[in-house]
Amino acid sequence: MALQRNIGVLHPGAMGATVAQTLLDSGHQVGWVSANRSAETAQRARGCMPFDSLDEIAAWADALISVCPPHGAVELAERVHATGFTGLYVDANALAPSTSLKIAEIIGTGAYVDGGIIGPPAIDAGTTRLYLSGQHGAGVAHWFSAGALKAVALPFDVGGSQQQQVAASMLKMSYAAYSKGASALLLSVNALAEAGGVADALRSEWAISAPDLLKRSEFTAKMTSGKAWRFQGEMLEISETYSNAGLPDDFHAGAAAIYERMSQLKDLPPQALDAVVAAILERSRS
Ligand SMILES: NC(=O)c1ccc[n+]([C@@H]2O[C@H](COP(=O)([O-])OP(=O)(O)OC[C@H]3O[C@@H](n4cnc5c(N)ncnc54)[C@H](OP(=O)(O)O)[C@@H]3O)[C@@H](O)[C@H]2O)c1
Repeated sequence: MALQRNIGVLHPGAMGATVAQTLLDSGHQVGWVSANRSAETAQRARGCMPFDSLDEIAAWADALISVCPPHGAVELAERVHATGFTGLYVDANALAPSTSLKIAEIIGTGAYVDGGIIGPPAIDAGTTRLYLSGQHGAGVAHWFSAGALKAVALPFDVGGSQQQQVAASMLKMSYAAYSKGASALLLSVNALAEAGGVADALRSEWAISAPDLLKRSEFTAKMTSGKAWRFQGEMLEISETYSNAGLPDDFHAGAAAIYERMSQLKDLPPQALDAVVAAILERSRS
């Protein structure tokens, strides 16, 4: 078993709770901060040590792992930096490499580890990977010696390039550009057909020529409706990644706008396609 460490998870959301559980399964002490967090987060954090404030957990922890909505990641890093925290800081959020480098600057490059998670919250082994990059990537991967979440360190040469330092974020951006970008495209196509009065005709045509798209539309609506509020930020991070690579960035800026219109569905149970299409169209009329 790896050396036991004190590790704070900021914060135990759907994904963060499974990061915390894997660290507990690997024999570490895991802490969380209750300030400003909901009853749902408190419920998911059961089994972890509670701290009242960032200052308190920063004084206790050897490492902190940020697993939060992408739009909150920079501010969280700034708040951690303000505590005077001296341990390793792992950002595991869906961020553009340029945003990750900004966080490295805030925290201090030598204490920073870039990460990106691919897969659903890690309840069962084999579903989900935490990619890590930079000089401490391989060391951090060893902390995840047991449990459901698999950690994978990407190659890093001594004195490696900036590109290698944030390779985990680039991998996450590339992966989600297709998975969540395709979901936004499919939902927007359904909204377009509805707006133009041809939704039934499109479904009849799909039933003949592309039956998978019928099922996929319903499935995608249910899987994304409650999470669209945080997908908006992720799409903007992907758009910036395209722009920085010298590629057209409009596709994912458009996907962000679709998810923004769906953000009113936050905190509701998974919604059917009709409700998601209505949400997308309602916002477009206002
Ligand atoms: N869920 C997935 O399937 C999945 C898959 C791959 C990667 N990820 C990545 O994991 C990260 C978190 O996802 P998640 O599924 O755990 O999200 P989540 O279930 O929505 O949980 C987010 C957690 O962060 C807290 N939070 C909310 N707003 C915040 C802010 N502005 N600053 C700091 N913390 C905030 C929430 O606390 P309260 O709700 O108590 O306020 C909650 O504990 C994201 O970067 C995402 O890209 C998730």
